[in-house]
Amino acid sequence: MSKKIILTGDRPTGRLHIGHFVGSLRRRVELQESGLFDKIFIMIADAQALTDNADNPEKVRQNIIEVALDYLSCGLDPSKSTIFIQSQVSELTELTFFYNNLVTVQRLQRNPTVKAEIQMRGFSDSDEGDNKAGTPVGFFCYPISQAADITAFKATTVPVGEDQAPMIEQTREIVRKFNSTYGETLVEPEIMLPDNAACLRLPGTDGKAKMSKSLGNCIYLSDSADELWAKVKGMYTDPLHLQVSDPGHIEGNTVFTYLDAFCRDEHFPKFRECFIGKKVSFEFNSLDELKEQYKAGGLGDMMIKKFLFEVLNDILSPIRERRHELEKNIPYVYEVLRKGSEVARAEAADTLAAVKRAMRINYFDAGVLDELIAEQTERFKA
Ligand code: TRP
Repeated sequence: MSKKIILTGDRPTGRLHIGHFVGSLRRRVELQESGLFDKIFIMIADAQALTDNADNPEKVRQNIIEVALDYLSCGLDPSKSTIFIQSQVSELTELTFFYNNLVTVQRLQRNPTVKAEIQMRGFSDSDEGDNKAGTPVGFFCYPISQAADITAFKATTVPVGEDQAPMIEQTREIVRKFNSTYGETLVEPEIMLPDNAACLRLPGTDGKAKMSKSLGNCIYLSDSADELWAKVKGMYTDPLHLQVSDPGHIEGNTVFTYLDAFCRDEHFPKFRECFIGKKVSFEFNSLDELKEQYKAGGLGDMMIKKFLFEVLNDILSPIRERRHELEKNIPYVYEVLRKGSEVARAEAADTLAAVKRAMRINYFDAGVLDELIAEQTERFKA
């Protein structure tokens, strides 16, 4: 049976938030525990983070440990998953260099995620110096480096959010191109998307399209209970729900989107108290029942916010506690990363050797040199 291998990762540009959690982290832990995968590689993509942070390596350096702490506190287990730092696997850059030749500038320009990111970052079309700088080449080409990340580990499965779909598609193209040009060598990976629509792209607390640090609308895994409550209390709900008695709307109501992503039936008996009020009380057994009441009117935003807080806190407090423990043991965290990077390096070296063999640029491999000498001697004799 062919091996199932996972590779995925995150750029270390900030602490991880609950969008990362529902979009990928929670799933990774489930996959890790499922026993369905022979190997799991989780990469902290510092080299990719540097493609648009070249002037700020310190930020990337500081966030490596934040991301590692978030990983471990969510339940990624170094005895089951290899956690490593991208820049420490130099084979990845070598693979990228060879893949560069298999991709056109025009194809890269069509990558919708790169396009959107270039816009978001305000990189200019023309390069007029520091104030209106153009797109860094490394940033423009990061889909190719991401193909190297994935193929180096012979990944069959890449669990990521939907914004990463164009990267996986581009990786598959590179694999096909490589294999048809140089012979069957690389494994074509498949994307694995989150299974719940609310998890695909969790909006920020302000209801804006995406949770993102620059918009200041994130709930971090490492937020305290007080910070969590302050953020939930301030969340965007339904602008038409002015009076408690008014009918409420679910669509576009961020509190309900979060409940869709996090709430389970067992939360209702556990946090029954939230719906016992001074004036009115309710008893709900499922999210559907809660939604029905909200739509009918009479259910205040404060009640559902209290409930959402309890649900989130129920999920986040064990993570928070584990993080506090790990923060007291920083040497352990770096040891996990060091060992993981060593394991990752051996794996990537194996693929790089196969790639060089396929391209016949392995001149000094055992046996190859003798053959090469014989061939060229013969040629110059003639
Ligand atoms: N681009 C991903 C992100 O921004 C991070 C990443 C880098 C990645 N290399 C990868 C994800 C390989 C999956 C596979 O989050």
